[in-house]
Amino acid sequence: MLHGGDYNPDQWLHVPGIIDEDFRLFKIAGINSASVGIFAWSALEPEEGRFEFGWLDDIMNRAADAGMAIILATPSGGKPAWMAEKYPEIRIMSSSPEHHEPRREEQCLRHNHCPSSPVFREKCRIMNTNLAKRYAGHPALAMWHVSNEYRPGCECPLCRAEFRKWLQNKYGSLKALNEAWWTSFWSHSFSSWEQIGALDWSVSPMMLDWRRFSSDRMLDFFINESAPLREFTPDIPVTTNFMEVYPHSDYWRWAEHADVVTWDAYPQYHDTEEDALKKMPYFSMLHDMNRSFKKKPFLMIESSPGPTNWAMPARLLRPGVLRMKSLHAVAHGSDGVCYFQLRKGRGGSEKFHGAVIDHIGSEDNRMFGEVAETGKDLTRLAEVVGSGIRARVGIIYDWQSRWALESAAGPSAFAKKTADACARHYRPFWKNGVAVDMLNGDSDLSGYDIVIAPRLYMLRGGFGERVEKFVAGGGDFIATYLTGIVNESDLAFTGGWPGPLRKVLGILSREIDYLMPEEKNEIGFADGGKRYEVSEVCDLIRAETAEVLAEYGGDFYAGTPAVTVNRFGKGRAFYIAAEPCDDGMLDDFYGKIISERNLPKALPDCDLPPGVSAVRRSGADAGFIFVINGNSAPVKLHLAKPRTDLLTGKTVDGETELARYGVMVLKESAAAE
Ligand code: GLA
Ligand code: ZN
Repeated sequence: MLHGGDYNPDQWLHVPGIIDEDFRLFKIAGINSASVGIFAWSALEPEEGRFEFGWLDDIMNRAADAGMAIILATPSGGKPAWMAEKYPEIRIMSSSPEHHEPRREEQCLRHNHCPSSPVFREKCRIMNTNLAKRYAGHPALAMWHVSNEYRPGCECPLCRAEFRKWLQNKYGSLKALNEAWWTSFWSHSFSSWEQIGALDWSVSPMMLDWRRFSSDRMLDFFINESAPLREFTPDIPVTTNFMEVYPHSDYWRWAEHADVVTWDAYPQYHDTEEDALKKMPYFSMLHDMNRSFKKKPFLMIESSPGPTNWAMPARLLRPGVLRMKSLHAVAHGSDGVCYFQLRKGRGGSEKFHGAVIDHIGSEDNRMFGEVAETGKDLTRLAEVVGSGIRARVGIIYDWQSRWALESAAGPSAFAKKTADACARHYRPFWKNGVAVDMLNGDSDLSGYDIVIAPRLYMLRGGFGERVEKFVAGGGDFIATYLTGIVNESDLAFTGGWPGPLRKVLGILSREIDYLMPEEKNEIGFADGGKRYEVSEVCDLIRAETAEVLAEYGGDFYAGTPAVTVNRFGKGRAFYIAAEPCDDGMLDDFYGKIISERNLPKALPDCDLPPGVSAVRRSGADAGFIFVINGNSAPVKLHLAKPRTDLLTGKTVDGETELARYGVMVLKESAAAE
């Protein structure tokens, strides 16, 4: 298990003795890895063509002596002032919806280079070639950390020209583009490629293509800047750090070009009830998404070992939270825990951000102690490395669909929240310890029992047929309102919603009602008579071949269907037409499907109290069940069979107390699954 974090010795080179002190403290804290050089361009090349690798040689050698793994960065996340001054073209240009004319940024901040600039590409090639050649074969070099949190979106003339090329390549002719973009709207038809310039929110398919292009353009930059690393160190894995459901990068596409998925996780748990009931399942889902990108273990490459300065107020982490959130990442597939950062800087905008070594500069510090404890736990979990998670449930989170929905003017700000929608459908499984994979609209659906499409606004070609095949073969497919509204070009389906899913779902939608804030309706189930409040969105549907499970209780559409099921081949296709106000309805709905299908639970012999989760990582010879108490109070669990807790070495059986933020990792034979 890696235990490390961002380490910026380049900020401290003028302070005698400090690096010695760092390595002394790393040892005490059980730090076995460091991500180095992330923003070190001005330290590595203080003047054009004058390179200074001495300090980095020293760090690499010390790390090798200490048996530490270095995740070596390429420094393109922050460009040096001399370069920005001499070559203005490397600086990002951006516009706003009010000012269409893009403006070039001054040299400031970070993550703000142009991905198309030939100068910047060449500077990165030279730098990365130097780094790769110099450290090829170095015993400390474990992985490449390419750049940092890439930010697409440059609108400079070079990028716009690339956009036009990308469009020519995609559409072949202006006629095809004009049709796909519906440009006769407001007289926007283009008669030459050069006319395509300003980002125009009124042409929503253009905005969609722009976001696809911008993500692809920066991805191309990443591939390009990785090339020398791949050439000179072919055996060293390459990664770049992802950020949650970052709006500007389609990580489904990016992950294909990373050898290991890594991401930066900054949950804010502060002893509130919301932590265990909402935030933890949300971050579980994000961890699962990062595991799902490659269906392989990932690495949480950043997390805060203390307050997060930008999440104001920067609250202290309550005792036990650091260990809990760290092992939480491991539970969902992270093969390590890394922090931002190892030593806190004295200046700059992150001087109040948590760090393993705080301004006090010694081990005499509460968070340092918790980091050291977490380090010990990670060594106890060595055998978990490489194990996977077997999920029979898939939830679709699709960036392109999200972009289309966000680019639309209307219909409701609430409805645009796609990750939140996925989280609502994720929680019922999480509460039961049932594993979930995240999917996108192009994923292979075979192998799953259940596939859920919450607000899957855009359906790309072939999706309808794939769902039909999945359901006909015995799968349960669940779609919600706002699924199947537009095609891949962001053109609304004609002939009724949900477009290509109409047959398999057996319903037809012609109108969708968006409720006023605070306004509610209710739905009632025929079977059992349960009623639930709904709000925000009510889709008005007609059951064609589907059976009606629940009906609306109020408004002019009272008595019309709100939840339906269509039996199709060997499977079932459900439609949930309205947004439930709380978890009750989806808990009941999925609870029934979980038991009907007898879906495997990580801890089948125990009813999990609220805020307690169980996740099973499956290795070749053993299973590891992570049981996590996200609550700030202890809970009682009753386990029906004995297992060994790897963290304490003790056998856990019968009635057990799990401390506040307590974690157990129960080992059992692979056959027990
Ligand atoms: C991001 C960045 C880091 C640092 C942290 C602070 O994840 O990658 O460089 O700024 O945020 O939380
Ligand atoms: Zn540009």
